[in-house]
Amino acid sequence: MAAQSKDDSGFRSLTVVEKRPIAREIWAFHLADANGGPLAAYTPGAHVAVVTPSGARRQYSLCGDGESPDHYELGIKAERPGRGASVSMIEQLEVGDTLLVSPPENTFPLDPASEYLFIAGGIGITPIRAMVRHLHARGEDNFQLIYCTRDREGAAFAEELESAPFADRVTIHHDGGDPDAVYDLWPFFETPGNALVYCCGPRPLMDDVHDMSGHWKSGRIRFEDFASDVEALRPDDRAFRVRHADSGEAFDIPADATILDTLRRHDQVLRSSCESGACGACRVELVAGEADHRDSVLEDRERGSNLMICVSRALSDELVLRW
Ligand code: FES
Repeated sequence: MAAQSKDDSGFRSLTVVEKRPIAREIWAFHLADANGGPLAAYTPGAHVAVVTPSGARRQYSLCGDGESPDHYELGIKAERPGRGASVSMIEQLEVGDTLLVSPPENTFPLDPASEYLFIAGGIGITPIRAMVRHLHARGEDNFQLIYCTRDREGAAFAEELESAPFADRVTIHHDGGDPDAVYDLWPFFETPGNALVYCCGPRPLMDDVHDMSGHWKSGRIRFEDFASDVEALRPDDRAFRVRHADSGEAFDIPADATILDTLRRHDQVLRSSCESGACGACRVELVAGEADHRDSVLEDRERGSNLMICVSRALSDELVLRW
């Protein structure tokens, strides 16, 4: 397990008390205090950050009931190819192992509404599952859930949702990987409605929903965007070197790891939050070298002297950075 660093303050050690497969390449993990101690409550849509066995941090949605939890439930998908953070969770963590876990945080809160439309793609079902169960438990079946996956084998919680008391409000659609067979969401968006829309899933799904809802009132569509190992890394990525502008210390960044994860493995203390190039927390100064910017935060004028090290890489053999 990765050693605790200054940057992990607030994290606590939790034990894996259950691990089981729930779909192809998707596992449920239950994390609890080894001594049965209380866990912080959370609201639907919340997530925790975890220091994975690879040393990288990842944020995972909490998919259970957060009112007075005796464990935290995560649904984790192995992002392959690669030996990334989520793969390390699945391949290296067993029941009885411990890992560092942050307090729950909610950047995707379930606000009151007269009706809801939930759109989940793939592993994006995890926060949505917490939301629909929460609403149903309160007698608020004022929602509809569209859950899209490639196939049945890759659909986590499908059986549970199909047999839930609110199953008549759930549509599960498999497109078989065929772009022509994706679920047609346009009828939901054609005429702006009163529903509050929550969408979590792969980038193409969220882009589609974003594009289809441009004429809706702002704030009616909420997105949850977590990094996946696959999004941060690409199959043709290559290794390069990062040098600290002040100390001159050099770090080899492998083809299958981010700058942020690699530097942390070398005990460098760095800030991060989304780890998907969307929040700006991991910004460092770019002093020299040619960057391959992959974030959605920096403006063009900032790109010559800044780098988001959770996702961005190098086009040159070396980058000189200051952090
Ligand atoms: S951690 Fe959010 S942009 Fe890098």
